[in-house]
Amino acid sequence: MELRTVDRADVRGRRILVRNDFNVPLDDDGDVTDDLRVRASVPTLRWLVEHGAKVVSCSHLGRPKGGRDDRYSLAPVVPVLAGHLGRDVRFVDDVVGDEAQRAARDLGEGQVLLLQNLRFEPGEEKNDPAFADRLASLGELYVDDAFGAAHRAHASVVGVAERLPPYAGFLLNKEVKELSRLLEGPDRPFVAILGGSKVSDKLAVLDNLLGRLDSLLVGGGMCFTFLAAQGDEIGDSLFEPDQVDSVRELLARAEREGRRVLLPTDVVVADDFREDAEHRTVPADAIEKGWRSLDIGPETARAFGAAIAAARTVFWNGPMGVFEWPPFAAGTKAVAEAVASSDAYTVVGGGDSAAALAQLGLADEIDHLSTGGGASLEMLEGKTLPGVAVIPPA
Ligand code: 3PG
Ligand code: MG
Repeated sequence: MELRTVDRADVRGRRILVRNDFNVPLDDDGDVTDDLRVRASVPTLRWLVEHGAKVVSCSHLGRPKGGRDDRYSLAPVVPVLAGHLGRDVRFVDDVVGDEAQRAARDLGEGQVLLLQNLRFEPGEEKNDPAFADRLASLGELYVDDAFGAAHRAHASVVGVAERLPPYAGFLLNKEVKELSRLLEGPDRPFVAILGGSKVSDKLAVLDNLLGRLDSLLVGGGMCFTFLAAQGDEIGDSLFEPDQVDSVRELLARAEREGRRVLLPTDVVVADDFREDAEHRTVPADAIEKGWRSLDIGPETARAFGAAIAAARTVFWNGPMGVFEWPPFAAGTKAVAEAVASSDAYTVVGGGDSAAALAQLGLADEIDHLSTGGGASLEMLEGKTLPGVAVIPPA
């Protein structure tokens, strides 16, 4: 599946409203700690400036509650974007007011303006028509390159696309193309590794992927609902009791259809949820009360590594444990290394997995590192994303 991309448009001398996803993590000093999303937006923005467009870029950052909140200002993104683009980026501390209108009017060919956080305006998330009108008035064409926000039917994603001729940026198109490859006849064996804390976030993806998979590897906090569903003692590990029935059904279906499900056989447990808690490796089916698992164990990591090495298509989403804390990082590191060194077609989605790869210097070894967390999961659930539906096909 491919979309009508911006290189089909005549952009010279025209104001182009670009929706980017610059929702990046910031540290306590307000500095950008992971610039993947900014770097990924450069090809489209560079193409636009090189073709003489006047670029009005907009994004959300974080979840301010429909009003101004300086902690979520997009200002820290400006120098990062300018650095990667090798151009000045103007910034206006306004979204659709007079200042923004003036700044957009003043743009010359090849210049780039970034608006303030879209979510400072209550109309953004509600897709309010009056807000969408004002936002659309800043451009003559619309380019959506915000794959990470494509599952949100917000004004900057769908409202403006109904008001201006819509095109996909290169990032949006690439994300849709690569992720749909996983659903449309992937090379087999196809192995998916899922982690992260909540199984409830992943069941719809599991349901849609299971019928295409050869092996499903489950780690992270979510695996304990699987282990509990088969009667294991999980101690104080994360557990979603209301998901047990769905997990049992999934396991039964996997069995019927001959899909291999690999659950941890050993885990690293801690006596508290703390980086410096006492910890040790134990069998995964006998975790004592008072102990909670914060990582998969070495035997599990080896088994997962072997399954990944035998695959021809790999999808990974979600860490295997609390990898931010060194005593519980080994499982995620082992999976990251196995995925990075695999000869298979590899796709990784979700901010945590991407951050783990970046930390290990392995991000470049992945065939497709998705900039979407929720958006990539919803695509793999088989849903049509609102932000994709509004762009005509190629
Ligand atoms: C993300 O980080 O998943 C996207 O930028 C969307 O952000 P949201 O979940 O706050 O809508
Ligand atoms: Mg999110």
